[in-house]
Amino acid sequence: MHQDVESIMFSKEQLQMRIAELAAQLDSEYAGKTPLMVGILKGSVMFYADLLRAMTIPVEMDFMAISSYGAGSKSSGEVKLIKDLDRKIEGRDVIIVEDIIDSGYTLSYLKRMLYSRKPSSVKICALLDKYSRRVVPIEADYKGFDCEDEFVIGFGLDYAERYRNLPYIGILKRSVYEK
Ligand code: IMP
Ligand code: MG
Repeated sequence: MHQDVESIMFSKEQLQMRIAELAAQLDSEYAGKTPLMVGILKGSVMFYADLLRAMTIPVEMDFMAISSYGAGSKSSGEVKLIKDLDRKIEGRDVIIVEDIIDSGYTLSYLKRMLYSRKPSSVKICALLDKYSRRVVPIEADYKGFDCEDEFVIGFGLDYAERYRNLPYIGILKRSVYEK
């Protein structure tokens, strides 16, 4: 275990098992369709890559980059679009793939923006849900796990751009950000 990790919340094995279940659910609910999988950079990359490889229906890939945190561990409520989609989504079935829903600011902003482009549908697939921290009322349509109110890192999730490559999701030691 990494020295800055207090404890492991979801192991590599737990993540893969749950991702396989989510993929099977998406396969059956989107059977006969080709959803456009929109990955939110950078936090969702590990989840996105594993989820899509576990799916068997045809999918298309695109990405958006959003910033809401800066380098800290608290949400500012301010959301900034850094990279937009490459292509039009009119008439498409869009699935937003996100690492974690915290306050909900990011996803409510994104969902509103994507809806204005007249897609056929927009659903949210989030690996983690920190439900107790919600400020804006928004829910994931597909979700991996509920997450306690702890700052978590790994499997794409960062603290000040670090720890994204840990293969598990762990709780960051408070001493790292309460210096
Ligand atoms: P929201 O807009 O407050 O819902 O924040 C969502 C974004 O904040 C996520 O995409 C993450 O990048 C980041 N975030 C929220 N909680 C955590 C955490 O515990 N660890 C790492 N990043 C987090
Ligand atoms: Mg982040």
